[in-house]
Amino acid sequence: MPARRPPSHPRLSISLIFGCLWLLLAPLPLLAQQVAEQVAESLGPGIVRFHADAAARAAAAPSLAMIAALPAPDAAPTVRPEFYRVEGRAAARIEIPEGTDLYGTGEVFGPLRRNGTRTVCWNHDAYAYGADTPHLYQSHPWVLAVRPDGTAFGVLADTSWRTLIDLTSGILFVANGPRFPVVVVDRESPQAVLRGLAELCGTMDLPPLWSLGYHQCRYSYTPDDRVREIAREFRARDIPCDVVWLDIDYMDGNRSFTFDPVAFPDPARLDADLDALGFHTIAIIDPGIKREEGHAVFDSGETVDAWVRTYDGAPYVGRVWPGDCVWPDFTNRRVRSWWGGLYADFLATGIDGVWNDMNEPAVFNVDSKTMPEDNIHRADEELGGTGPHARYHNVYGMLMARATREGMLAARPDRRPFVLTRANFLGGHRYAATWTGDNVASWRHLDASLAMVLNLGLSGQPFSGPDIGGFEGKGNGALFARWMGFGALLPFARGHTGKGNIDKEPWAFGPQVEATCRRALQGRMRLLPHLYTLMREAAVTGLPAWRPLFFADPADPRLRDVDDAALIGDDLMIVVNTSPGADGAAPALPTGDWREVTRHIFGEADDPDLPRLYLRDGAVLALAAPAPHTGASAGPVTLLVNPDRQGRASCVVYRDDGEGFAYRDGGYGLSRITAVVRGPHVDLSCRALEGSWPALSGAGTVVLLSGGAEATVEAAWPGSFDLQP
Ligand code: GLC
Repeated sequence: MPARRPPSHPRLSISLIFGCLWLLLAPLPLLAQQVAEQVAESLGPGIVRFHADAAARAAAAPSLAMIAALPAPDAAPTVRPEFYRVEGRAAARIEIPEGTDLYGTGEVFGPLRRNGTRTVCWNHDAYAYGADTPHLYQSHPWVLAVRPDGTAFGVLADTSWRTLIDLTSGILFVANGPRFPVVVVDRESPQAVLRGLAELCGTMDLPPLWSLGYHQCRYSYTPDDRVREIAREFRARDIPCDVVWLDIDYMDGNRSFTFDPVAFPDPARLDADLDALGFHTIAIIDPGIKREEGHAVFDSGETVDAWVRTYDGAPYVGRVWPGDCVWPDFTNRRVRSWWGGLYADFLATGIDGVWNDMNEPAVFNVDSKTMPEDNIHRADEELGGTGPHARYHNVYGMLMARATREGMLAARPDRRPFVLTRANFLGGHRYAATWTGDNVASWRHLDASLAMVLNLGLSGQPFSGPDIGGFEGKGNGALFARWMGFGALLPFARGHTGKGNIDKEPWAFGPQVEATCRRALQGRMRLLPHLYTLMREAAVTGLPAWRPLFFADPADPRLRDVDDAALIGDDLMIVVNTSPGADGAAPALPTGDWREVTRHIFGEADDPDLPRLYLRDGAVLALAAPAPHTGASAGPVTLLVNPDRQGRASCVVYRDDGEGFAYRDGGYGLSRITAVVRGPHVDLSCRALEGSWPALSGAGTVVLLSGGAEATVEAAWPGSFDLQP
């Protein structure tokens, strides 16, 4: 049994002191004393890990963020942290050159550019959060710094303890725990730094194609006939949708891994009915397990001694949706494997994906909204061994998602797992996609949701999106239409809303809003070849699908704080009007001959609630036809071509089965489509770059955007044609 917590270290004071620290931050470096004799070790090209001194190196706990153990000789540090101790806390500070812009820090509410902000890494059930909420659901102790000349470095504070990221003067990390290493990735561009982050923390696995369709959720669709009705409504109204979600009311008394026998008497039948309509199903699973003898999950958890314990050794009990609950200790391999095993029967009902919620972990009946920091985790030795919740709190959700993912893979080895998690940690993109929690139906949240997705992408998580339309609050049709307008194109596109709230399906606000939603979601389906190619790129390199505008030219200072425009890949720019009026302010645009392609994505209607899209010169955009869901989507049928001054344009397109793992054995095709325009003559070639699939070929519409005019031709690719004079 673990030793009783020493009375000199009372539970409350930890958070109180940290709270005070929060207010006193500006003078911190002055109070602090620097520790000498740093140790620097190279981890790879441009990547150096620093320890405060040799003793700190010897005492360092295993990294919970990084997967790489790549020590390489000859550290050549360019950016050096200074290590401090501040009132017993470990701190590290990194100077930044004047004019350096800071990004990342994970899931944060507010502007894209993070200079001047303070963020606390402490996963928190942050219902209806706002600008004053110090911590949201996830922790990413990582900052991306872009120097004035466009070169960049990233700084990773390798600690899972409660950590303050203070960007009011340089980069300062203060951790409520032992001394921690700092890893610096210093490379020629922000993109190269993100690749370095992926070398350290891994990349997400390729998601199933269906997860790139639109998702419809609410708290909750019940009973089962309401779920069927929602699915039928999408098809009847010709609005694309791939997934309908089951929130906690499908369960029997909110008990995870159960079904309400009255409202959901035959889950397999429900699944079959949804399948027949081309729908996938995702169901929520919460970590709080009802403490109730006779509840099979509780009973089997008891037999494997699964629960997180209090400091005096009893299972910790707190209240969440089902009532008094206990929590699996996901830091322990035995527990993860028991948890994973629970999915075999559950998924046998036909459920396709899993939504892990409430895994900060959230606890209702305590002020801290989570479990005590001196609770005990009996963690695997390779994670650092038995230790307090204070060390494992921020990785609880990540390890839950890991256990879920591993369980899904064990149950269905031939299918790509899709897991959505609310809580996560730096590196957790390896296990799950994410959404930005319980946001609010307001213009402020609509606006912030774009920067949130971008900063998550700059923190290693490429697969995220908000509750489109807002979880808390009604909002109105204008807000909903605008949010869906661009939300439909985000990497993870899901509409969701809270219990008792008004309906928020695409048709809920009347025909005009419905028409906007249809256009937006059909636009997503047209862009599917592009989105899938980008998600595959994220899986290989770590570069997110949605990128900040400054990626177009990292040395251009005008682009550094643009929040209402972004790049979807390198070549497609999206400009969003995030304010209630009809005409948004025009953001700074990168140099280049960008051509507007909005109507090719969304159709002919000039709809002010839709974002505007621009294609870079030198680029081809391959579009599919709108389809009711991704499973019905065929290959590209339209090529938009914006030739550069030499008359050339190209793109790559990734294709595979959309499901399963044949792609790992070469069962895929990565093709380059190149257009060469010489006078009236256009030559389209398609070359296989990777994979065993033949080069892409097809036929349809080619739209040539050049000289301020558009020429539209029906053609086959590869092939050649002449434009009409
Ligand atoms: C949490 C989730 C929300 C969900 C609700 C009920 O508030 O963040 O998305 O609908 O729990 O499960």
